[in-house]
Amino acid sequence: MGLQRIDKLLSSQNTLSRSEVKSMIRQGKVLANGQIVKKPEEKFDPDTTVLEVDGQPLTIRQHIYLMMNKPQGVLSASNDRHAKTVIDLLPPEWQRRNLFPAGRLDKDTEGLLLITDDGELAHKMLSPKSHVYKLYEAECDRDLTEEDVAAFAGGIICGELTFLPAEMKIISPRRALVEICEGKFHQIKRMFHAAGTEVVHLRRLRIGGVWLDENLPSGMVRPLSDREIIELLNRNHGL
Ligand code: URA
Repeated sequence: MGLQRIDKLLSSQNTLSRSEVKSMIRQGKVLANGQIVKKPEEKFDPDTTVLEVDGQPLTIRQHIYLMMNKPQGVLSASNDRHAKTVIDLLPPEWQRRNLFPAGRLDKDTEGLLLITDDGELAHKMLSPKSHVYKLYEAECDRDLTEEDVAAFAGGIICGELTFLPAEMKIISPRRALVEICEGKFHQIKRMFHAAGTEVVHLRRLRIGGVWLDENLPSGMVRPLSDREIIELLNRNHGL
């Protein structure tokens, strides 16, 4: 990252405003390599400096990673002339940050959505070659059977499209968990359609090793923890 002003660096992390950072510095609460930072103009390289704010170590992140609990009825897009997008839902402090949704959930699908400015990580997470599994909970319009489970496990063919074998677990007569590592258009709905049932409700629960935070209200975001950022590319799977 190179040398950067400490006030800019700390306020870029979104936990403190520029004026709060200045006040922390005035109060001697910002340390760089164990030394009190005296002025907001002082410059440091975040890659090589150990920073502490108010007694807490602070890792400077180059990118932003937010978990959204996407509600139904909003588009997974950055902007749209007519419809509300997931970016429109972001609170003001996360606006104008070049954030975009990593991957798409249909307008009527809810659940875990990653919002980031890190194109490289988004690409890795979405590429089928990375084998990052996404877990969905689907409710269908008829009771599910072991034949459906077998059809998914065998790999579904739908017209000219083939979907890779997918694990499905029935959790109640009309509801199932399904894991896929591809992200084809309407994939889950089309797989069920090919098996002779329609999805009436769809929710994404997990990407890689990151679960939708049960305490995150619909339509809200929270930053991912360091651990969760690593876990996004976790290839472990199995229901
Ligand atoms: N599969 C679908 O059909 N829709 C989604 O939103 C995600 C996966």
